[in-house]
Order: sequence, then structure tokens, then C-alpha cells
Amino acid sequence: MATHKIAVLAGDGIGQEVTPQAQKVLQIVGKATGVSFEFEPALVGGSAIDATGDPLPPASLALCEQSDAILFGAVGGPKWDNAPQERRPERGLLALRKRLDLFANLRPARCFPMLVDASPLKRSIVEGTDLLVVRELTGGLYFGEPRGREEMAGGGARAVNTMTYTSAEIERVARAAFDVARKRRRRLASVDKANVLIVSQLWREVVNRVATDYPDVQLEHVLVDNCAMALVQHPTHFDTIVTENTFGDILSDEAAILAGSMGMLPSASLGGRVGLYEPVHGTAPTLRGRASRTRSRRSCRPRCCSAIRSAWAPMPTASTPRRCPCSSADSARATSTPQAPSWWARPRWVISSRPRWNAPTEPDDPRRLGRRRRAGCRPRPNEQQEGTNMRIAVVGATGAVGQTTLKILEERKFPVSDLRAFASERSVGKSVVFKGERIAVEKIGPASFKGIEVAFFSAGSGQSREYAPQAVKAGAVVVDKSSAFRMDPAVPLVVPEINAHALAGHRGIVACPNCTTIVTVMPLKPLHDAGRLRRVVATSYQAVSGAGVNGVAALMQETLAWARGETITPSFFQHQIAFNLIPHIDKFDASGYTGEELKLVGEVRKILELPHLAIAPTTVRVPVFTTHSIAVNAETEIKLTRERAREVLSTFPGLTLWDEPGENRYPMPVAVEGRDECFVGRVREDLSLANGLNFWVVGDQLRKGAALNGIQIAELLIR
Ligand SMILES: NC(=O)c1ccc[n+]([C@@H]2O[C@H](COP(=O)([O-])OP(=O)(O)OC[C@H]3O[C@@H](n4cnc5c(N)ncnc54)[C@H](OP(=O)(O)O)[C@@H]3O)[C@@H](O)[C@H]2O)c1
Repeated sequence: MATHKIAVLAGDGIGQEVTPQAQKVLQIVGKATGVSFEFEPALVGGSAIDATGDPLPPASLALCEQSDAILFGAVGGPKWDNAPQERRPERGLLALRKRLDLFANLRPARCFPMLVDASPLKRSIVEGTDLLVVRELTGGLYFGEPRGREEMAGGGARAVNTMTYTSAEIERVARAAFDVARKRRRRLASVDKANVLIVSQLWREVVNRVATDYPDVQLEHVLVDNCAMALVQHPTHFDTIVTENTFGDILSDEAAILAGSMGMLPSASLGGRVGLYEPVHGTAPTLRGRASRTRSRRSCRPRCCSAIRSAWAPMPTASTPRRCPCSSADSARATSTPQAPSWWARPRWVISSRPRWNAPTEPDDPRRLGRRRRAGCRPRPNEQQEGTNMRIAVVGATGAVGQTTLKILEERKFPVSDLRAFASERSVGKSVVFKGERIAVEKIGPASFKGIEVAFFSAGSGQSREYAPQAVKAGAVVVDKSSAFRMDPAVPLVVPEINAHALAGHRGIVACPNCTTIVTVMPLKPLHDAGRLRRVVATSYQAVSGAGVNGVAALMQETLAWARGETITPSFFQHQIAFNLIPHIDKFDASGYTGEELKLVGEVRKILELPHLAIAPTTVRVPVFTTHSIAVNAETEIKLTRERAREVLSTFPGLTLWDEPGENRYPMPVAVEGRDECFVGRVREDLSLANGLNFWVVGDQLRKGAALNGIQIAELLIR
């Protein structure tokens, strides 16, 4: 059994109470994971001053240097408030950071659904917050020279602190932050005060240089004053934040309020050989002996620790155990608690590293708008030249698909000059966030689409039928995600990887297929190209968000009611959805099939241009927040072996093969949520049929099944 040596520096105040509890937790975690810990205590802070006169005695520093990790409590207290600088408890911690070269401080702030009301901010603002502040820890104002105070001859005094950074210091923390962002949602906000401070101008220059090594991470620069405001106005905008020491000190404490309290948060100081792990709270002298912080710490810290652990994992300079010593048991506990899906209030910034789709690049690709003009189609009054920004409308902007559309427009840097957000009358007065700005939600009126060039509709088929023709009349191209026009022969029904050619000759409206259709048809296309499809049997396992925000709320409420021991009262679906399966999506017709099942049949046939393809569908609603899964049996005219099927599936754009059963690797909703591709696994030859194949396909139905597919269509149209 591996043994890790942990230096325990409990410090002062409640540091001495919470640290023994953390040791107990570590021991339990160690037992569960086959790791043992050897704890050795040492003095630091005020208690060290009292015993030795030094806030960081040499023996404590030596122990830390020889250990694998440091478990730190807290330092300080009123007793030492008036002591000279070098004999202040905090100097012990600063010296430790400097001596161990702990240059990067990671502080996650995550708002857990069950603690959302612990924050003094409104639920609508903090819900879904999940950010991580990477603070430079060993430079800047807190360490810069010259520093000091002098009494002035003519009376009064003068004090100096110096903010100083070298480019090397900035670069190493920037790299740490980019690595962390890569492991998260690939979005990094670098915070500075470059409009005033020369140090910040160097900071920005170096961060920009480092960014060229991380093309997959979206970087933005935010002024510190603006960031302070944005953190409490729309915290869900942020993913990873990197900033210098003083700004980071202030912003990370501000971020703590988003999670409910500083007592909820952990902190890791990393960079050198040994990592230092501590709670964010201070010594809380007034709480000492009351164990109240111990309680909140026990209940919250494990999940926060897992956030640090996963964020830190990719640091390239890591050597010995710089990981948080918490176990996977923690994350298992965290994921077993019902949580809102990520898209609900929190942006996802996952950008696929795979080629996205076979986008047209040649100047006379028939899918381009220009060609459409040449082909004699009615020109749109607002038809764009390549590269120009577009005026966009998102109809249904407050809904599950609308919210995802806003995120993906931003992620893919869709050229937007102006964005208008529409929803029902109920949402007038609310706002949505796009590129960090709040956009007021409007009700659709007679002149709503004037000047709009592309309108994404996801407000239900009734609204599409009523308003899409108005938008087209006003000169917009409508990308419609409802079922209103899908089966209209005059309207192309498009999955860009499969039938982008169908866009040629559109008359202002392009339809996006049903979400289950898109996920199902993605693997069917390459199989058809290779072996000619004869028959398909598809059974879906559809997430509650496929029914919109109300579906998500229903699963949340029912699960929470169950956890509280209350009676579950179905409020949205026909039956209880928590811990249940409902083989009923949309209305039944006389044949016994549901509308959802018949959509799958008609739409797959239209997209593949196989009007007689035999399809047997069953659609089932399952208690999963986001991401649809479909079990498919496909019969082909030409025999496809398992190997051949795997080959054609793995090379099709927008599809990824996860099919390593020996390693328990196959797609599942929790792994696929937030991803752009559809994932295929469990590929097998049918035991009962000569030319049959079985497989399992999973896709995030809010992304590829709706919003992303619509944006891909628009990208084709504006090229
Ligand atoms: N969810 C999916 O996975 C998925 C996938 C593919 C396609 N779709 C299709 O996309 C559409 C939206 O689905 P969703 O899941 O996003 O539903 P949702 O979460 O319930 O959102 C519906 C949106 O439509 C708006 N809306 C409702 N009535 C309106 C009206 N009279 N005028 C203007 N806006 C109105 C709502 O505004 P308020 O907030 O003001 O009510 C909200 O923004 C549906 O047609 C659905 O079939 C959904």
C-alpha cells in the first residue's frame, strides 16, 4: 500500500479544530482507495510565534519540504494583530508559499443546487455557477520590493508596496491556467488592469503569447473592476479565471459568496514539488470551540476537492503527488446527488477537437448562398457577403434549445453584429446572456424581424408556423428546430454532415430534424453508404431536457421529493419520471405509435432520401437530464462485418467510435453531455440475422440534436 507523508500545519483558531477532522476524512478515503497517510504535525502562524518567536520555524519548513503534501488549517487572530510585520502569523503562510514555490493558487467556486439559497445573491444569478480562480501567489504587491514605511520630515508618513512581475512569473501561471481551462470548459478569462498599470500591460502581452500554444482555449481579457462586477451579475459566464496576486485574493473571496460562504470552499496552492491544501476560511476566532465550521466543512469540502483535483490533473510540470488526496469516492458521492444539467444555467464551452463536419470550402460549392443566388433562387434582401457580421434573432431564447444556441453561437464565434432574443410574454422583463452581456428578452411583434438576417426558431411548432413566414418576409433565413416544416417537401431537412446539398434552393426556411432523428441518422448514413440499408429497428432512451426546461424541472422536483421521503406527484410528464421509464413521447395515433416515433420514421427517410426504408421505432423517456441514447438494429443489403462497420463509423465526420468493451468503454449520457459529436459503441453483428448489426449511439440532443445542428446549417448558408 502506497504511503504519503502529510505535514499537518493546523495553525490558529478553528484551524486547530478543522484540521483533525480533515485527517479523519483522509484516513477513510485512504482505506477506500488503498492509500495510507502518515501525518506529522508542525507549528505555523500565531501558535508558532508563541512557541518559538517565528511564524514559520525552520523545523516546520523542513518537514514541509520532506513531505508529499501539506494540510494547512488557518493562521492569525486578534492576539497578534498589533505585532510587527515580521512577527505576524500571516508571514508564516507567505513564507511557506515563497519557499516552496507555490506560485499557483486554485480556488474553485461551485454553486451546488442544494446550497443555492445559501448565497445572498438571487438564485437566478448564482444557479449553475462553476468557476475556478487561478491566482498568482508568489509575486506582485505582496512580495514586491521596495516596500516599507517612512515618517516624513514635515509630519505624516509615506508607505510603499511595489507591484512587480517578470514575464517568466506571468508565463508559468498563465500556462497553469490554460492547462486547467483545457481540462474544464476551455474558456479562460485573464483579469488585469491594463488600461492603467504597466505591470498589467506586460501581463496581457505574455498571456496573449502563451495563448498561441492553446488554440483550443477561448481567451478573453477582463479589467479587474469589470470582473468584480460581472462576478456578481452573471457568474455563469466564467469558467477559469487567471489573475495576479492581489486581484486574485479579492476576486476569489468575492467568488466564495457565489457558493454560499467561504466555509464551503477549498484551496490548493501548487507549483513546486509539494502542494498545500487548505480551507479558504480564516481562523474565525469567535467560532472557536463551537465546531460550527467543522460541520459545514464536513458536508461540503469533498466535492470541492474533487473539482480541484480534476482541474489540476493536466499541469505539465507536475511531479510528485500534487493531486488533492481526496478519493474518487467523493466524486461518486457528488454525482449521485441530483443536479441541474450543465446547460440550464451554466455555459458549456466544449469545443470539439475533431473536424466538425464536411463544411463546404470551395468557392462554387453548391451549398453556398452565392451559388443559391446564381441558381436563380429568390435572393434574401439581407443576404450577406462572406466574413461580414450578421444580425441574428433567437426565438425561444429562454428555453433549453435557445439557451444552448446562445452558448454555441458564442463558442463557435459565429459572426454576430446584433442579437435579439425573443420568447413568450411571460419572459418580457427577463434577459439572456450573450458574450457576457445581458440582452433583454422581447415578445414577438409585427416589426420584430426587420433587419434580421438569420433567425433561429426554437419556440415550438405553433410559434414557428405563425412567425417563421413573417421572418422570411422580412428578409431573414429561418433555421427552424420545431416540427412545423420538417416534412414539407419545399423545406430542406438538413443534417450538414449528411445532406448539406439539400440546402440548395431553400426558400427561406430550413428545418432541423427532431433530436432523436439526428442522433439515430448520424451512424445510419455511413452504414448505408457502405452496405445499403434495408431495415432499421430503433429504440430510444430520451432525456427529460428533450421536453424542454419543464422536463428538467420535473425530474429535479420528483427526485428531491423522493430524497425527502415525500410523495412524488407527477407534474409534467404523464407519469412519475424519477426512477421510472415512460414509453410515451408525444401523442399516440390510431396505429398505436407515438408522434415522436412517426417523426423518426418520416425524417430518417427524408434525410437519407430513402422513402421506403423500413423502420420500426420505439421511443422512451428516461430519467436522464441531457443526452439521448438509441439502441439500433440495422439490416443491410451488403454484409458489413463488425470490423467494416467500426471502420466506416469511426471515419464519418461528427461521429466518434467508443467501442472497447474489454475496457468497459462505450458511450453513456454522462460522458457525452456537452460534446458536439455523436458517439457509437457496442457494435456487434446480429446473432439472429445474416446482414444485421447492433449498435448503441449517444448524442447530446440539445447540441447536435438541436442547437449545434442549426448553427452548422447557418454556417453553411452564410459562407
Ligand atoms: N429540447 C430538445 O432537446 C429539443 C431538440 C430538438 C428540437 N426541439 C424543439 O425546439 C423547440 C423548443 O424546445 P425547448 O426544449 O427549448 O423548449 P422549452 O425549454 O420549453 O422552451 C420553449 C421556448 O419557447 C418560448 N415560447 C413559448 N411560447 C412562446 C410564444 N408564444 N412566443 C414566443 N416564444 C414562446 C419559451 O419562452 P418562455 O420562457 O417565455 O416560456 C421558451 O423560450 C420545440 O419545438 C422542440 O420540439 C427541442
